[in-house]
Parts: sequence; structure tokens; C-alpha cells
Amino acid sequence: MLFASVKLLFFLDYLLPNHYFWLFLINQSKSKKEFVMSKIALITGATAGIGEATAFKLAEEGINLIITGRREARLLQLKNKLEQLNVRVLPRCFDVRDEQAVKGALGSLPEEWQEIDILVNNAGLAAGMNALHEGDSDDWDRMIDTNVKGLLYVTRAVTPGMVARRRGQIINIGSIAGKEVYPNGNVYCATKHAVDALTKGMRIDLLPYGIRVTQICPGAVETEFSLVRFHGDAVRAGKVYEGFENLVANDIAECIHFVVTRPPHVNINDMVVMPTAQATATLFHKVS
Ligand SMILES: NC(=O)c1ccc[n+]([C@@H]2O[C@H](COP(=O)([O-])OP(=O)(O)OC[C@H]3O[C@@H](n4cnc5c(N)ncnc54)[C@H](OP(=O)(O)O)[C@@H]3O)[C@@H](O)[C@H]2O)c1
Repeated sequence: MLFASVKLLFFLDYLLPNHYFWLFLINQSKSKKEFVMSKIALITGATAGIGEATAFKLAEEGINLIITGRREARLLQLKNKLEQLNVRVLPRCFDVRDEQAVKGALGSLPEEWQEIDILVNNAGLAAGMNALHEGDSDDWDRMIDTNVKGLLYVTRAVTPGMVARRRGQIINIGSIAGKEVYPNGNVYCATKHAVDALTKGMRIDLLPYGIRVTQICPGAVETEFSLVRFHGDAVRAGKVYEGFENLVANDIAECIHFVVTRPPHVNINDMVVMPTAQATATLFHKVS
């Protein structure tokens, strides 16, 4: 009996440290994976360009996605593609300019989707490119209502939950146009300067709640952006990207991925990301 007990003690003495060692290893790898696996990101303007590329990048990281935009068919197609990456995807079709639509869509999320960890305020556009005295006030309204008021409506709907949970991350897509003003860029530049100011304001107001706020300011990225800016004129839009190597949407998505995969104590405040061939908003090294 005594011999058996001693043997058992020796056995436990051998097993326990190893047992704890293996448990420790399993938990370490689990907690690293779960750090991103259980997260939910909401991306506005996911139907094209930077927003769409970001959806794929975050899905590859195991982040579940609420994808939004006005074009429902594209949202549904995107949902199907993203789900092949083994994440859960919730499409929500609304116009960010419509405050009631934003409140309706984001205020009625299924319970399991309500704890949004990451908000990517990406939906935005430039409309027209005229001197101010020749500007079209419809274009001005579209830009101000989308880039400034839309971003505010979405942020207002999402941040109370982040504040209550005392965690969250907001990434605003600004622009080099929010750092400089260029000829005929007047109102678009004003809206992106507003995004710059709002990003700083959010960072200050959300500081006590541990919420991280980042702005990413791209230079020229070839997306549907110029097609939208020039009201569907594909020839004029194509010329914007001629003679130099522009950024592609995935370049910015990779920056967003970098920002969201920093450890919780690290915040990237501001990132300006340009093509190598672009020095300022208007100065390009072009080869014909
Ligand atoms: N491309 C560039 O060179 C560049 C440079 C600097 C900054 N940016 C900024 O990057 C962001 C993304 O632009 P992008 O280049 O990816 O352009 P994009 O390809 O035209 O994509 C814009 C996205 O915004 C959505 N959107 C536009 N208006 C909306 C509205 N009223 N309500 C809801 N969604 C709306 C569009 O979706 P729906 O049409 O389906 O609604 C689309 O998914 C914008 O904020 C833009 O200002 C772009």
C-alpha cells in the first residue's frame, strides 16, 4: 500500500508539471488566436475599392464582418466570397447620409452582432473637381453629407457600445486631401480636413474608455474613386492613374490590417500612405 502511494506521488510529481506546461502552451496559442477570432468589424463602403479589400484582409485574420454599402447585390456577392474564408458575415444595406437609415440598421443588429470591436469609417467620395466659383452645390452636398455627416452618424451609432464595454477601435479613412489643399479640390479637401479634425476629437473624447482611434490618409489609389468623382467619365478617370504606379486598394487594406493587429496598448494615430511616385497631392513623377 505504502509502495503504491509513493509510486503514485512520483507519477503525479512527473505528470503535473508537464500537464501544466502543456496547458500553458495550449492556452498561449489559443489566446493569441482568439484575440482576433472573436472580433467583429463593421466596414462602411465595403462594396468596392478600399472597403472591399479591407473586408478580405480582415476576414483572412478571422475577424467577423458587418459589411455595408448602398449596392445590395454587391454586398450579397461579397458575403458569399468572404464566408469561404470561414468568417461570419452580416450585410447591411443603407446610405450613410440617411441618419434614420443608419440608426435603423445599426440599432437593430442581432444580439450576437452588437459588440462591434472595430469600426472602419471608409464610405466616402469626391464629386466633381471645379474651382469654387464654378462648383456644383449638389456635388458639395454629396461630399459633405457622406464624408462628414455619414461618418458622424455611423460613429454616433457604434461608439456608445464601445464606451460601455470600455474597448474598441475606430479607423477613419481620411486622405492626403485632409493634409493639403489642391486646386479645384476645395470641398473634398474640406471634408477630409474635417475627418482629420474629427479623428483627433474622437481620440480625445474616447480616451477615458480605452478606445483606439486611427486615421489613414491615402494618396492616389486606383479604385472606383475617380470614376465617381468624374460622374462616370471613364476616360477622364483613367487619366488620373496614367504614367505612374498608383496604390491599389490592397495596399491600404494592409495598413488597416497592421493597425488592427497591434497589441491593445498600441495605437497608430495617423498614417499617410502615398505611391512612391507621388510626393504631394498634386506632384507626381510621371513617365509617358
Ligand atoms: N481612391 C483614392 O485615391 C483615395 C485617396 C484618398 C482617400 N480615399 C478615401 O477612401 C475611401 C474609400 O474610397 P475608394 O477609393 O475605395 O472609392 P470607391 O471604390 O468608390 O468606394 C467607395 C465606397 O464607399 C461607399 N459609399 C459611397 N457613398 C456612400 C453612401 N452615401 N452610403 C454608403 N456607402 C457609400 C460605396 O458603396 P456604395 O456605392 O455601394 O454605397 C463604396 O463601397 C473614401 O473615403 C475616399 O475618400 C480614396
